[in-house]
Amino acid sequence: MDLRLSEAAAFVAGASSGLGRAIARQLLREGCRVAICSRNTERVSAARQWLISETGCDPDAIMALTADVTIEEDVRAAVQAASDQFGGLNLLVTNAGGPPTGQIDDLSMDDWREAIELNLVSTITMSRTALPHLRKAAASGSHASILMITSLSAKQPVPSLYLSNVARAGVQGFSKSLSEEVGADGITVNTILPGYTKTDRLRHLSESLNERTGKSIADIEAGWAASSALKRIGTEDEFAAAATFLLSPRAGFITGVALVVDGGAVKSLL
Ligand SMILES: NC(=O)c1ccc[n+]([C@@H]2O[C@H](COP(=O)([O-])OP(=O)(O)OC[C@H]3O[C@@H](n4cnc5c(N)ncnc54)[C@H](OP(=O)(O)O)[C@@H]3O)[C@@H](O)[C@H]2O)c1
Repeated sequence: MDLRLSEAAAFVAGASSGLGRAIARQLLREGCRVAICSRNTERVSAARQWLISETGCDPDAIMALTADVTIEEDVRAAVQAASDQFGGLNLLVTNAGGPPTGQIDDLSMDDWREAIELNLVSTITMSRTALPHLRKAAASGSHASILMITSLSAKQPVPSLYLSNVARAGVQGFSKSLSEEVGADGITVNTILPGYTKTDRLRHLSESLNERTGKSIADIEAGWAASSALKRIGTEDEFAAAATFLLSPRAGFITGVALVVDGGAVKSLL
């Protein structure tokens, strides 16, 4: 299926590795122009080179920006730079790293504030900042869409991930509210909820659980795989394919949804 993305310009946050970078790769393969950001100039520049070699795209189609999405000024400057470079923006993917593990007695109030800043407030900042650009695109008849990466923990809280469980639920509320408001402008807003997917984040999670519980990393990963209906951990490519479809004009009548990409780990009916 032609996703009709070849004219689009995208801003993908948190994309020096993992799920963000995988979405950037798929968007480039569809012919999009893509700006990626992360906190670290070296890592985000290396990701740009990797994306060029993976996709064979025109180097002008991929832009690397250093920006911490918890800093409003960074977000503003990065989004403006991407829009200036590409002559506007059609797509926004909000993303950042995940918060640490911990139970109620392990976490300080600073941990809570940092997690809310990292995963909820940053999503609001990025959306508010990109909206004028997306509204402009939609008003001129182009496709415009926001996709927020959250987690299966927004639907089914994960025992060791209090911070994620709470912050992601907030993003779901924000996304649904925003989809109602900007639908009339022609902008779609959706969330995508990864289940256990092989990335650096998953490796750090298994190491942290290994330290806290003494369980081996192999056993932890086997437990995650067993929790899904498909009995395995997902790949970045599988996640990126679903995300790219949701961002595309082909998903033009889909807004306000929360798509779980988890191999059947969430057990609820709806
Ligand atoms: N992988 C999974 O199984 C899974 C499951 C459920 C939910 N999730 C969630 O999905 C999101 C992406 O996961 P992932 O597995 O791709 O994680 P990852 O491999 O750790 O990648 C996170 C990316 O975000 C960037 N980043 C972190 N903090 C940032 C900040 N403040 N500003 C800008 N960029 C920032 C990192 O780059 P720099 O370090 O270079 O800044 C990196 O490129 C996370 O929120 C994660 O919790 C993942």
